[in-house]
Amino acid sequence: GQDRPMPKPFPTPIVIAHRGASGSRPEHTLAAYELAIDQGADFIEPDLVPTKDDVLVARHENAIAETTDVASHPEFADRRTTKTIDGQTITGWFVEDFTLAELKTLRARERLPQLRAGNAAYDGRFEIPTLAEIIDLAKRRTRETGRTIGIYPETKHPTYFARIGHPTDDRLVAELRRAGWDSADAPVFIQSFEVKNLQHLHGITKVRLIQLMAGEGGPADGAVPSYAAMLTPAGLRQVATYAYGLGPDKGQLWQGDAPTSLVADAHAVGLKVHPWTYRAENVFLPARFRHGDDPATHGDVAGEIRRALGLGIDGFFTDYPLIGVETRSAA
Ligand code: G3P
Ligand code: CA
Repeated sequence: GQDRPMPKPFPTPIVIAHRGASGSRPEHTLAAYELAIDQGADFIEPDLVPTKDDVLVARHENAIAETTDVASHPEFADRRTTKTIDGQTITGWFVEDFTLAELKTLRARERLPQLRAGNAAYDGRFEIPTLAEIIDLAKRRTRETGRTIGIYPETKHPTYFARIGHPTDDRLVAELRRAGWDSADAPVFIQSFEVKNLQHLHGITKVRLIQLMAGEGGPADGAVPSYAAMLTPAGLRQVATYAYGLGPDKGQLWQGDAPTSLVADAHAVGLKVHPWTYRAENVFLPARFRHGDDPATHGDVAGEIRRALGLGIDGFFTDYPLIGVETRSAA
């Protein structure tokens, strides 16, 4: 109605709350997303995986023992199994083996309780949210605050899920369409580490697409030989045919203390740059979550963001959106 403030356009560079305010609440819970919005984040980031009945829910990986209390539910003991997903063999419980109704009986748990004891205090309190609930939250908070709150979803393991009969990118677009957000001006970015799914998305939606890249290796769908090849001038021109921007590992912005040419090279072909992930716990994260983190910067989230802002980035992912917003204001 007319009593509601009109949404304002996004400030730039955009602050993307990585898994919500995941430095301060258990990741991928409505509480983590809501706190991120309270702290001024422009976008909240859900990683998405499908349930057995094809509902997209927010989890960083389909294995859920590390971030829920599933292991303490005797009724699900026989769901424990071993799978190989994109080359990694994991024993545990998997989202795609649970209906949404079953998943909703679980409660979120902090992944890194030794590092984030304050978060662990919330263990057992929050449900696993659906994409639909996250969209509703973003819309409600947009109405209440008069700021535009966007979502920045990532479909995890899209080729794997399509192969086992759960095509997640098409589900995502269907959900966005239902929300009136399947358009170029919707407050949405879709991101992926894979390539073929982004090219498929380019054909079915006008929503802005972000090609994620890691510091090592290459896309799980084998579409290009490596992320290093993607960063060559020819590789970047190819990405620009389907994507709006790049989501590099923040380590790719630097060679020692000197900037690499990544930001300039991406901008030269019209790609925006949104690096990930600025957080305080760099040193102590398990190796598979460390992604180019520099031990020398432990604790200096603001300093790291400030240096990246100096390179002309267009947005950034952070576990600490309040630090992100304050650092942007001071820059
Ligand atoms: O999506 C950007 C960043 O979130 C990639 O890392 O592993 O946290 O999804 P991850
Ligand atoms: Ca992500």
